[in-house]
Amino acid sequence: MKKPAACLSRRQFIALAGHGAAALTLLNLPFEGHAAAPGGKVRIGVVGSGNVGTALGRLWAQAGHQVMFSSRSLDADKTLAKEIGANASAGSPKDAVAFGDVILFAVPYRALPDLGKELAPALKGKIVIDACNPFPDRDGDIANWAREKGAGLASSELLPGARIVRGFNAIPAARMGAANKQPPRIGMPIAGDDKGAIEVVTALVSEIGYEPVLVGGLAMGRHLIPGSPLAGERSPAEIRKIAAGL
Ligand SMILES: NC(=O)c1ccc[n+]([C@@H]2O[C@H](COP(=O)([O-])OP(=O)(O)OC[C@H]3O[C@@H](n4cnc5c(N)ncnc54)[C@H](OP(=O)(O)O)[C@@H]3O)[C@@H](O)[C@H]2O)c1
Repeated sequence: MKKPAACLSRRQFIALAGHGAAALTLLNLPFEGHAAAPGGKVRIGVVGSGNVGTALGRLWAQAGHQVMFSSRSLDADKTLAKEIGANASAGSPKDAVAFGDVILFAVPYRALPDLGKELAPALKGKIVIDACNPFPDRDGDIANWAREKGAGLASSELLPGARIVRGFNAIPAARMGAANKQPPRIGMPIAGDDKGAIEVVTALVSEIGYEPVLVGGLAMGRHLIPGSPLAGERSPAEIRKIAAGL
């Protein structure tokens, strides 16, 4: 298993995985834009409010974080925000990136090159959760390039300056709301190079019911796609065992 450039100590990681929301409060959150909201809550900008963006944004809003949904369909996002109610709002992708301490990207992979250019100044230094998967049939040549390079490293080239953590890539969106209700906990493989970003994402993943498993640096993101040995719902122990053999 490749090691991330900077990784959490085992003790830190176990503490975070076990405490979720509390971890956000305890952490010295490395936000560059603005401080965390009171009570350890953060502002989350969602770019792509389809199956994944809606499922995760809803869970985080219900957990008390401020969530702004965005896509190219502002009216639909306003309707979604109204339906979710407390803590939800809608804006353009630019608004969502400016708003968020943490940005969830949940768009078809082919949208990343233009979004990366359009949002580059605002994305610099932001923590980004990259749920996007490259599928040649859907996304065209960019997906072949991303698969060859590895999805994590490719995303970091397309979203320069962002502090990327790959996660939520290979479980169905329809199951994302189920983890809270399902003991024992399902593992969520994540990969990233930025220690502060990993800490924050670890807490957010844990808070909605998954046990985050850091499988390595962003280069390991190539394995966080559907169809890989790490895909699907697995126990944390299974994920660690599989990742160790990759
Ligand atoms: N579905 C799953 O089970 C699942 C699970 C894990 C990961 N993923 C990955 O997560 C990503 C999203 O999947 P999804 O199923 O949520 O897709 P989806 O339901 O088709 O939603 C995509 C969202 O992105 C928006 N979008 C598309 N192009 C955009 C652009 N250029 N700028 C801003 N917004 C744009 C779409 O809205 P507009 O078209 O109105 O802009 C829509 O809100 C994909 O890369 C997918 O492979 C999916």
